[in-house]
Amino acid sequence: MKETSLVLVTGGAGYIGSHITLSLLEAGHGVVVFDNLSNSSAESISRIEKICGKKPHFVMGDIRDKQALSNLFNRYHIDSVIHCAGLKAVGESVKDPLTYFSNNLVGSVTLLEAMARANIFRLVFSSSATVYGDSPNMPVNEKHPTAAPTNPYGRSKLMVEDVLRDLATSDQRWSIATARYFNPIGAHSSGLIGEAPNGIPNNLVPYISQVAIGKLKKLQIFGGDYPTPDGTGVRDYIHVMDLAQGHLKALHAISLKNGLNIWNFGSGKGYSVLELLDAFENASGKKIPYDIVARRAGDIPKCWANTDKARQELGWRAEKNLNDMMIDTWRWQKNNPTGYN
Ligand code: NAD
Ligand code: UD1
Repeated sequence: MKETSLVLVTGGAGYIGSHITLSLLEAGHGVVVFDNLSNSSAESISRIEKICGKKPHFVMGDIRDKQALSNLFNRYHIDSVIHCAGLKAVGESVKDPLTYFSNNLVGSVTLLEAMARANIFRLVFSSSATVYGDSPNMPVNEKHPTAAPTNPYGRSKLMVEDVLRDLATSDQRWSIATARYFNPIGAHSSGLIGEAPNGIPNNLVPYISQVAIGKLKKLQIFGGDYPTPDGTGVRDYIHVMDLAQGHLKALHAISLKNGLNIWNFGSGKGYSVLELLDAFENASGKKIPYDIVARRAGDIPKCWANTDKARQELGWRAEKNLNDMMIDTWRWQKNNPTGYN
């Protein structure tokens, strides 16, 4: 198929970016992946080609590198950018805030400046439901006020959202989608690409799947005394392929109208840690030992999305259920016990 447009995916070798890249290629877009591989492997790019028979262009580089971005935009006819590059470990951001503000905030501003110089004004940004903070009212919609995040990672996301809002107000040429992800999990159904965290995973699903393959001994459930039906934390888990499809819809929508758009990308349903564990055990046939321990600092009791806006404006909704997410997670983990290594 002829490349209909070239989309730049920053962070396209990473977990979410690789699934977005695959979906873009399958939809007939040409893709340039720009990634410094600080938290990923170029093997994900080869796997994408194995799945769909098409290869994105790959440029290794850092979004804080003005010259590298200039060269990139001079070399390729890019018309829009999906900006996934960034660091995402909450605990690490508390220990090393400057690295987080440098990669996530300075990196984003450097990218936006390079885009403007190259006359590219279409952007989808990977934001997070973390910007809603701890709200008593669920589900949250996009009008919900953003709250002060409890950690530098969250603050870096909110700061970029503010930058994007000001930018869209200042110059009508910008056409921006702020995509607020809830909890992306799962993997492509081929089992060839998926989430490959470095070291001990911070997030629930990669942790559970590493217990299932015997890499980790036992899950610790952070808190059994939340005001939720079974006392464990409730989150909105969304299949990464549904999330990728949401990006395609968002990209199309911003090609038709300028300004700032904010969309929640979640399934609209909340599941507790124990419900998720049960679903994983059913899908994998593995028993996951666990202890219920103290709450994790900074965690909120519950969070799930109102996704009406994405449904009405993009015609998008999450199609895959919790069982699909668990089956795909397990297939990926079982086939790739050491990730891409
Ligand atoms: P990931 O770490 O797998 O992917 C991020 C990619 O960005 C990696 O390939 C990494 O090498 C690259 N990168 C990091 N800093 C860079 C830099 N300065 N220059 C170039 N490349 C750089 O993480 P992910 O889960 O795929 O997350 C993608 C985006 O979505 C991130 O911005 C993250 O904050 C956001 N997000 C993720 C989640 C989640 O649960 N995974 C939730 C909400 C938002
Ligand atoms: C976390 C981050 C959030 C970030 C998101 C994606 C924190 C406080 N929040 O969200 O800012 O955007 O990841 O990177 O880190 N849980 C356990 N045991 C574990 C791991 C998690 O019980 O070993 C529980 C948590 O308490 C929570 C649920 O599982 O109730 C989901 O946790 P996680 O996958 O880390 O996602 P979030 O905390 O929602």
